[in-house]
Amino acid sequence: MYKCSEVVTCKAAPIVSRMRNSLVSYFCFSMCLVVSAVDWHSDIIATIRRANQYISGMGRIDEKVLLDSIPIKDNAKHQWISMTNFSDAFIRSHVKFYVYTRQNFLYPDEVWPGNNLSLRSSFYDPRKPTTILIHGFAVDSSSDSVQGIKRKLLEHQDMNVVGVDYGSLMDHWWYNLCPPCGMAVVVLQAPKVGSYVGELISFLVDFGQIPASVHIVGHSLGAHVAGFAGKYLNQIDRTVGRITGLDPSSPGFTKVSNSHRLAPDDATFTDCIYTSAKSISVRRPICKSNFYPNGCGLSQPGCFAGDFSTYGGCSHSRAVYLFAESIDPQGIFRTKRCDLMPCVDSKPSATCWSTNETLMGYRANHEVEGIFYTRTNDEAPFYRNPK
Ligand SMILES: *[C@@H]1O[C@H](CO)[C@@H](O)[C@H](O)[C@H]1NC(C)=O
Ligand SMILES: *[C@@H]1O[C@H](CO)[C@@H](O)[C@H](O)[C@H]1NC(C)=O
Ligand SMILES: *[C@@H]1O[C@H](CO)[C@@H](O)[C@H](O)[C@H]1NC(C)=O
Repeated sequence: MYKCSEVVTCKAAPIVSRMRNSLVSYFCFSMCLVVSAVDWHSDIIATIRRANQYISGMGRIDEKVLLDSIPIKDNAKHQWISMTNFSDAFIRSHVKFYVYTRQNFLYPDEVWPGNNLSLRSSFYDPRKPTTILIHGFAVDSSSDSVQGIKRKLLEHQDMNVVGVDYGSLMDHWWYNLCPPCGMAVVVLQAPKVGSYVGELISFLVDFGQIPASVHIVGHSLGAHVAGFAGKYLNQIDRTVGRITGLDPSSPGFTKVSNSHRLAPDDATFTDCIYTSAKSISVRRPICKSNFYPNGCGLSQPGCFAGDFSTYGGCSHSRAVYLFAESIDPQGIFRTKRCDLMPCVDSKPSATCWSTNETLMGYRANHEVEGIFYTRTNDEAPFYRNPK
């Protein structure tokens, strides 16, 4: 029997220990029990198979009926192992890159790093700036973090937009059974997915893209994937111009060093918007420029305070909508600079003062670092632009 301690404690030990004291580790423990149960069934099936090799005729146990009665596949054990440590080949076959431009606004061209023909036959133009959009946990590139931001970008600027889709990495029965456990596993893969995104960007650079004109925008887990892409490109001297983290997720990324999550130096300029700092998002500033709209409380105005229990939580996804609005010319989010994080419960409390130094979102000033506060409306339009 494959011990759950081997799977969870050994392979996921660094992550689980980082998530100690959190609800997630409790769920992982539950998952551990599920895995044990799966393995137990697998063992039963293997025993039946062996027995059937020697028993013929009457009394033979119908394996298919048994398998159907317990909805667990014989290779569940193998699946679990491969899901906790995806191979590079698995990542490559499950992560997709979709190029959108003004010429193909709705129907993207799929491109593959290293496949020259795929890029040449797409509408991609290396002379234009490129924005890479990366979604978060349990969704795919049909989510607003890709489609919503893409729409605004192409509406206002002639550029290439690449939607990254790693949704099929999470398309597995036990993600539904235990989403937090699934999250723990995908958190483990974020560096690999990020490196692959880095490979794609490096491929674009081979075709004449200037790294400084590349902007990666990631929501939730996608923010860290963006960070790992940035680290990959830093190592090969192709540092991208900007990475924006939209409510970078906290499970697995809170108590880790810069090399294990999105970090200030992953791009020439990094900016983060935190909209669920007390629940799903990393709370402390992890970018060069850090924006805390409405402070770092439990929820955003217009959101139900308990919404953090869902991954697509209202506050957690608010960062996406604020950023998308900030692409509009009228979407001006003026800011105040703060000496500390503007959390209502922090001691001592932060002092914030009006500043012209930077705006929150798309038009953030790349020359400015620090912690910034802004207020928003409780529904769209969220900006409070005087006049
Ligand atoms: C993950 O798989 C790779 C091969 O794909 C292997 O080299 C590596 O040791 C594995 N890591 C763990 C933690 O099992
Ligand atoms: C693909 O394109 C790059 C850049 O133009 C070039 O260096 C490389 O040799 C090409 N590879 C193939 C297989 O044609
Ligand atoms: C902000 O900019 C305006 C106009 O450029 C200027 O009058 C004002 O003094 C500036 N305020 C600060 C705090 O820098």
